[in-house]
Amino acid sequence: MSGVAGGGSGAGGGGSGAPSVRRVDDRLGLAVRRATLGPVTLVTYARDHVTVRTPSKPDFRDGNTIDLVDPPAPEDLEGWLRRFEDTVGTLGPPHTQLRWETPVPPDAPARPPTPDPELAAAAEAIGLELSAVTVLLLDELVPPDRPPPAQLLPVEPPAVEPGGPVDRRWHAASVLYRYAAGDGPADWRDQPDWHVAFVEWSVEQQRQLATAGRCQVWIAMRHGAPVARLTVIHDRQGLAAVEDVVTHPVHRGLGIASGLTATAVAHHFEAFSDSRIGLAAEPGDQADRLYRRLGFRPHATVWTALRPDPRTVGDR
Ligand SMILES: CC(C)(COP(=O)(O)OP(=O)(O)OC[C@H]1O[C@@H](n2cnc3c(N)ncnc32)[C@H](O)[C@@H]1OP(=O)(O)O)[C@@H](O)C(=O)NCCC(=O)NCCS
Repeated sequence: MSGVAGGGSGAGGGGSGAPSVRRVDDRLGLAVRRATLGPVTLVTYARDHVTVRTPSKPDFRDGNTIDLVDPPAPEDLEGWLRRFEDTVGTLGPPHTQLRWETPVPPDAPARPPTPDPELAAAAEAIGLELSAVTVLLLDELVPPDRPPPAQLLPVEPPAVEPGGPVDRRWHAASVLYRYAAGDGPADWRDQPDWHVAFVEWSVEQQRQLATAGRCQVWIAMRHGAPVARLTVIHDRQGLAAVEDVVTHPVHRGLGIASGLTATAVAHHFEAFSDSRIGLAAEPGDQADRLYRRLGFRPHATVWTALRPDPRTVGDR
């Protein structure tokens, strides 16, 4: 089921005479990854793959990829790479990328998955790096026992007139991105130009999506200052994703990300009661654990086979 514990309508109906729509919760891993794409990205569906192109931002990896409906056979990898070059590749992206997903049982432990050894060997032989994220879907929201020591607020999209209080809050939420970069002051201070430019571009996409009603940014305020942020984006077709959850390092371990995620998700369900909501986490890391405690359950491993752009290794 989906929704807030004791609240939501429940997936699949089955109730007293209400129309019943069966949910097909199959292979939503890549769909969750694509739910956050903005209007500058073109998504085209074919029988066995989905082509994702962002002509105005060729180095945006999530926006320039071929997503395969099924995992590729090892001997088909090169053919898919040629397909990438002939389609997305004509936009001039510095990387080459394929993605696919494999199902994960909802009770699977939080640990890194093992790739198919033949596929991994075939990928390595042609210079592709294989990585994995776990996509989790909310089963039933389990809010934390205690509220966090912070005020949790939705951020309005910035006003057309720059410089007002809403604009300032939007900016403050965006500044927190730098604390996702690593564990120490050097990581937060010395961010490469391409990374700073990517965050700026990404925040602008969110601003446009927020204005169009598809994106809600949330912040946590403590001692009068923003200390955590996250974004909920939905695709207008019943699928939403939480992303870019960041807590300022000084304020970690207090339940702030947990409280903010629970609150943002509960509000999303108030507006879109039949929504499916998912997110991606590094398998087995702290965020993976945090989301499981809130009622998210693993759904799929999304595999990425990447020939990276040397300038942007580590970013998306
Ligand atoms: C991951 C991240 C968002 C967590 O933020 P946070 O505000 O520290 O999260 P929480 O406080 O809710 O939970 C963190 C830990 O504190 C614990 N905790 C929560 N409330 C607590 C409390 N009142 N007292 C003591 N510990 C508490 C949680 O149980 C959790 O423990 P665990 O690591 O053993 O599972 C933060 O570390 C971060 O910004 N990381 C970099 C960006 C990132 O990786 N984002 C995730 C993207 S998917």
